[in-house]
Amino acid sequence: MMTQFSTLFRGMSRRDWFRGAGLFAAASSAGAAPHHTGAIRTVDDLDTPAMIIDLDILEKNIREMQEHCNREQIPLHVHIKTHKIPEIALMQLRQGATGICCQKLGEAEVMVAGGVRSDILVPYNIVGRQKLVRLARLCKRARMTVAVDSEVVAQGISQQLQQDGGSVRVLVELDTGGRRTGVQSPQAALELAQKISRMPKLDFRGVMTFPSRLEAKPFFDETIHLFKKAGLPLHEISGGGTGAESASKQIGCNVTRSGSYVFEGLKRINTTTNRPNPVTCATRMIMTVVSTPTADRVIIDGGQKTFQRNPERPYAMIEGHPEALINGMSVEHGHVDVSGSSHKFKVGERLAVIPQHQGVTINHHDEVYAVRKGMIEAVWPVAGRGRVR
Ligand SMILES: Cc1ncc(COP(=O)(O)O)c(C=O)c1O
Repeated sequence: MMTQFSTLFRGMSRRDWFRGAGLFAAASSAGAAPHHTGAIRTVDDLDTPAMIIDLDILEKNIREMQEHCNREQIPLHVHIKTHKIPEIALMQLRQGATGICCQKLGEAEVMVAGGVRSDILVPYNIVGRQKLVRLARLCKRARMTVAVDSEVVAQGISQQLQQDGGSVRVLVELDTGGRRTGVQSPQAALELAQKISRMPKLDFRGVMTFPSRLEAKPFFDETIHLFKKAGLPLHEISGGGTGAESASKQIGCNVTRSGSYVFEGLKRINTTTNRPNPVTCATRMIMTVVSTPTADRVIIDGGQKTFQRNPERPYAMIEGHPEALINGMSVEHGHVDVSGSSHKFKVGERLAVIPQHQGVTINHHDEVYAVRKGMIEAVWPVAGRGRVR
């Protein structure tokens, strides 16, 4: 049955949707009438490159991670930086997640606007006047928690809230080996927590780390011991990372944050031990072969601006053609080494490509197509795309 427009339309203006889906060519800013270019109902109707999400796999990943956390008896806070789409966050919450985590304030704003009403953690030092004003605004609309690793960051937040009203929950970030942000010792965590507890408008709640690793247990044990001795309650002890849920539990966390699982499955993809797998990976980039210049080289219609080039090669996997390797990327061309393939690729042929880093790839796209068995069920704007502030 043809998909109803209202179902496809979720969360977008009608004009945006038409543009995104390619149903009409974008009208010029001068207001020229749009041109009808045909209905889009199936994956085969999409112009390329187009990012699709397989709903059966997405739903399975969401269900399986929640079941895993239920078995481990650890609440799940889903990190939405992987998908940046409120509709997917709401699916995760409906499945049983007890909160969301946003890496940037802009993502949190998008989630609140998209109807997310759960607890929101921003595990990021919020620095600078504009951001502090936005945080104060968000604190009036949602139950916000932030993580800090210095007195100066905590002070900035406290001062802004004294001026603007509202309050915020605060976690101290521990660097337990991730070597990114975070205080460097349990003693430093205690001293910072004591200062935060005295700052107006800040509600000290606990500690967090990323990623959760078993090696962090002594750091956590010592932190919990010091806080207990000082009479400072640790309501929240938060760990994170897809595949690290059991480690979170074992090192003493009472909540775990996972994000990548939604697209990758319960184990993080990496280039050596867990390569992109069509069964667990929910996204595909639908691509077209635009050139076959030599016997060993095929060019597809997207490169760095469609995917991203960070991980080791191959940068993505072509479904059904594991021996064809996407080993090079110009800005708008994907270079496929087909020397090991017996398949004769043809200009115009369409390929389904699994990006190596799906969470970064989605940030390159205005919308994604939610697909079940080849039929498009919804077009989701990537509402948090580009929200890096
Ligand atoms: C602070 C924090 N928590 C949780 C996560 C989720 O990790 P993953 O994507 O491996 O699930 C990340 C990912 O970068 C993170 O930075």
